[in-house]
Amino acid sequence: MKNLVLYCRAGYEKDCAAEIQVRAAELNIGGFVKTTNNQAYVVFECFAEDDGEILAQKLALDSLIFTRQMFAAGPLLSNLPAEDRVGPIVEALAAVSKAGELRVETPDTNEAKELSAFCRKFTVPLRQALKKRDILLNKENPKRPIIHVCFVAPGQAYVGFSYSNNSSPYFMGIPRLKFPSDGPSRSTLKLDEAFIHFIKEEDHETRLHSGMNSVDLGACPGGWTYQLVRRGMFVAAVDNGPMDERLMQTGQVKHYREDGFRFEPPRKNIYWLVCDMVEKPA
Ligand SMILES: C[S@@+](CC[C@H](N)C(=O)[O-])C[C@H]1O[C@@H](n2cnc3c(N)ncnc32)[C@H](O)[C@@H]1O
Repeated sequence: MKNLVLYCRAGYEKDCAAEIQVRAAELNIGGFVKTTNNQAYVVFECFAEDDGEILAQKLALDSLIFTRQMFAAGPLLSNLPAEDRVGPIVEALAAVSKAGELRVETPDTNEAKELSAFCRKFTVPLRQALKKRDILLNKENPKRPIIHVCFVAPGQAYVGFSYSNNSSPYFMGIPRLKFPSDGPSRSTLKLDEAFIHFIKEEDHETRLHSGMNSVDLGACPGGWTYQLVRRGMFVAAVDNGPMDERLMQTGQVKHYREDGFRFEPPRKNIYWLVCDMVEKPA
């Protein structure tokens, strides 16, 4: 397969594209990027036939900053006939053997997400057809490749696979985090996701444990402080605005109405410093 499809957050296509070009060149793989602003994915088309698969295998997903998920893919299947979309997709995957999972996805945009209901329904007949051909195993297997079918528009899909040891475990590469009912702001999930993404589960005990001291610059109303408090930490919350009352009642938060750029914590044993100040220049 010649292509590598990379999912990113909408608006970050240029960053994702620049990154894959540099990283592919480091592996001596040449190609060019196809993308459009706000489409939430980038396609890196390699010059050599199998290089999409080599990238999917050798380029560590965890080392990419702007990519949530990536998979080797063939050319865009456009004009999939409404009466039989399964057939051409199965043919495009004929070279894949005994995959362990099937994900029928879309890029993370509002327009593409309108296809989500269709994707869910379509998964059922496609799964059956892939199993019949032994492209997909009868039982899910986390050690085998993952088949990705990404519908970018009605009747248009990229089709391919990722290697299970170099793939996001999440559908569309996005962890589904539940917004806590007592979370002070939506942005609480950003820090939650960052912790999940950057700190390996086995390191949580040493790097994210209760009793640690932390500083949150630009803390109000307290979404990020909430994540630190929830993990049992003590937080110096720096911001001129008001902090969420319930957070203050935990006794784990000290609110400093100060300039975050000049703040010096009275305690010096700070383990975490998080910063969400909105300032110009960014
Ligand atoms: C995006 S909000 C932070 C949201 C917060 N992380 C949360 O999850 O609820 C940015 C905050 O930065 C604060 N801020 C901007 N400049 C600051 C500065 N120089 N010192 C301290 N806080 C600052 C603003 O008052 C604002 O509350």
